[in-house]
Amino acid sequence: MFVEESEDVSNAKSRLLDVFADLDDDELKAMEQWIGSKQFKKDLENKKSIKQSEEVLNKIADAIKGMVPFEAEMATEKIEFPAVGDAADCNRVNTRHMDEFLYDEEQVQELVKDGRLSRHYCLDCNSQNIKELTYISHSKSRVQLQYIFKVLLPKDLECKLILDVGSRFGGVLFGAYYYTNASKIIGIELNKECCEIQEKVIAQYKMDKTRIQVVNSDVLNKGDIVKKSDVCIINCLDFFVSTEEHKRLWYFFKEHLRKGSFVVLDRSIADTLQPLDMFDEFADWLSVSKPLQLENEILFDVEDLHELYLYTVN
Ligand SMILES: C[S@@+](CC[C@H](N)C(=O)[O-])C[C@H]1O[C@@H](n2cnc3c(N)ncnc32)[C@H](O)[C@@H]1O
Repeated sequence: MFVEESEDVSNAKSRLLDVFADLDDDELKAMEQWIGSKQFKKDLENKKSIKQSEEVLNKIADAIKGMVPFEAEMATEKIEFPAVGDAADCNRVNTRHMDEFLYDEEQVQELVKDGRLSRHYCLDCNSQNIKELTYISHSKSRVQLQYIFKVLLPKDLECKLILDVGSRFGGVLFGAYYYTNASKIIGIELNKECCEIQEKVIAQYKMDKTRIQVVNSDVLNKGDIVKKSDVCIINCLDFFVSTEEHKRLWYFFKEHLRKGSFVVLDRSIADTLQPLDMFDEFADWLSVSKPLQLENEILFDVEDLHELYLYTVN
């Protein structure tokens, strides 16, 4: 009996054929085996669950856009352009902030197309002598968060504490909330306005406040929390602190982070500490850890994500 298939099914078949047409015989065979295997069912379930969490995070990002200025920097924030390191050439003329938690790559392209965002700046007015702007993000992107929680860190984080140092608008906290089973998720954030935004989202999405918490403080005053953390996520703080303050923070982390705990960085520890002239003292402090959910790598385009680093404290 001929059963007419839906448009969705024919579209999916057409997309699959597009992919399969580029494979050789051996690759095709491997695909056939995978689709018939239990692993395929597991991968599919995993992908579906990630997509569900992703949808919540997309909604949260849209909600936050309505709470902050378009540039996503608050009036009360003190942004310091770094004096050392790979961002030392950034300044007010050549650099713009585009928050990657709030706007993904596709949304940025839309903004450029609509003329709300420029990719270039003019070196002398009215001329075509233009130069590309440097875009920085103070937040991790939603894809980076998936990679941290679904590929880098261990799958089971029950009874574990995830700490985000400088939690800003809360992207990392919300990623941890929806992508992991961590029992406790804490963000420590210096800026009060940013803390208020995080609290608003927690209330709006009725998150379990015994599981997720925001602390409005300088992390330097919260050694007790840092000591208890099992996973500590530190996004580059160099746009927020002077070189001297930055150095102080790393001495503080070295003193307080527990042996065996995980540290996630968005620069290698060498690239972070060499510009501060302090790498030699820290050379034996951390060990590189391999990703602990490598089986999930197929769920992401990992080529874009090499700038995330997982370490354990020695
Ligand atoms: C680059 S953002 C990181 C945002 C978020 N953790 C992420 O990765 O998406 C750094 C944040 O750290 C905060 N910050 C800087 N120094 C701090 C300190 N000493 N204690 C707590 N927060 C701090 C800043 O206010 C800023 O919101």
